[in-house]
Amino acid sequence: MPKLAAVTGWPLTYTRSPILHNYWCARYGIDGLYLRLPLAPEDFESGIRALQALGFAGLNVTIPHKEAAFALVDRRTPPAQRAGSVNTLIFEADGTVTGDCTDGVGYIDSLKEAGVSLPRRALVLGAGGASRAVCAALLDAGCTLTLANRTQSRAEAIVSALGGGDVIAWEDWTAHLPDVELLVNTTSLGMKGHEGFDWGDCLTHASPSLVVSDIVYMPLETPLLAAAHARSLKAVDGLGMLIHQARPGFAAWFGPYPEADATLRARLVETLD
Ligand SMILES: NC(=O)c1ccc[n+]([C@@H]2O[C@H](COP(=O)([O-])OP(=O)(O)OC[C@H]3O[C@@H](n4cnc5c(N)ncnc54)[C@H](OP(=O)(O)O)[C@@H]3O)[C@@H](O)[C@H]2O)c1
Repeated sequence: MPKLAAVTGWPLTYTRSPILHNYWCARYGIDGLYLRLPLAPEDFESGIRALQALGFAGLNVTIPHKEAAFALVDRRTPPAQRAGSVNTLIFEADGTVTGDCTDGVGYIDSLKEAGVSLPRRALVLGAGGASRAVCAALLDAGCTLTLANRTQSRAEAIVSALGGGDVIAWEDWTAHLPDVELLVNTTSLGMKGHEGFDWGDCLTHASPSLVVSDIVYMPLETPLLAAAHARSLKAVDGLGMLIHQARPGFAAWFGPYPEADATLRARLVETLD
């Protein structure tokens, strides 16, 4: 029987995860299959138990199941505990379930792949689910963090949960650019369908060495990254994070720790139009 894994979410109309994992199965000659298996919220726990009983190695979990997955597991990795959510379930041989959150390591690895050394000071925009994982990873890597979010109380909640970082008013973030080496957009602003924000002059105060990264990857060149390119600043897109966050799950389910190679990236870029 092939090794099996899957991604679940709801409604999960489209996901790039099968492209990633099935590419790696082929590349490493693994008899494995990665499926898209939508589960409605009311079926989440029974569905997970059924897949476990069928012999699946584990699953990726996406919206809206990340909190339910956090509650369901028998143990959480330190990144999952820090992020307060689980995006990777690993079915262990003893019948227990381990929950991991790989968004933070995925983000850090995407910086490394882009040749960016970890900054001393970073400014993170946004305080949603992805932000907390990215903030935790940056803090744990020794970075000093400043956080700005439209709803300030959500940024304060992240700082309080993680035990580090400063919160500034959303309206003030551009004024803080001279003080940081890295700017990260973790809001959904700039994503297809969320184009209403004017990023035009936002980088006026940036130092020439500022690295600008956006975890939004659709479009690949977001308005923020376009503004960075216009100023000849180093820009890191969100596709690297998408690829790198998938690697620990693949290793846990299928064996090898996979490479994020150019062919895979090109294959994903084709799906972004
Ligand atoms: N590259 C990757 O692998 C990867 C992984 C995960 C997520 N993502 C992307 O990251 C983005 C955020 O994901 P998420 O799961 O964290 O979403 P989320 O939990 O819904 O958070 C959305 C964030 O965007 C902010 N926001 C939304 N509309 C805004 C507006 N008009 N003005 C200012 N701020 C606004 C929200 O601020 P409020 O708190 O004020 O509402 C919140 O901080 C999405 O585009 C997602 O596709 C990429």
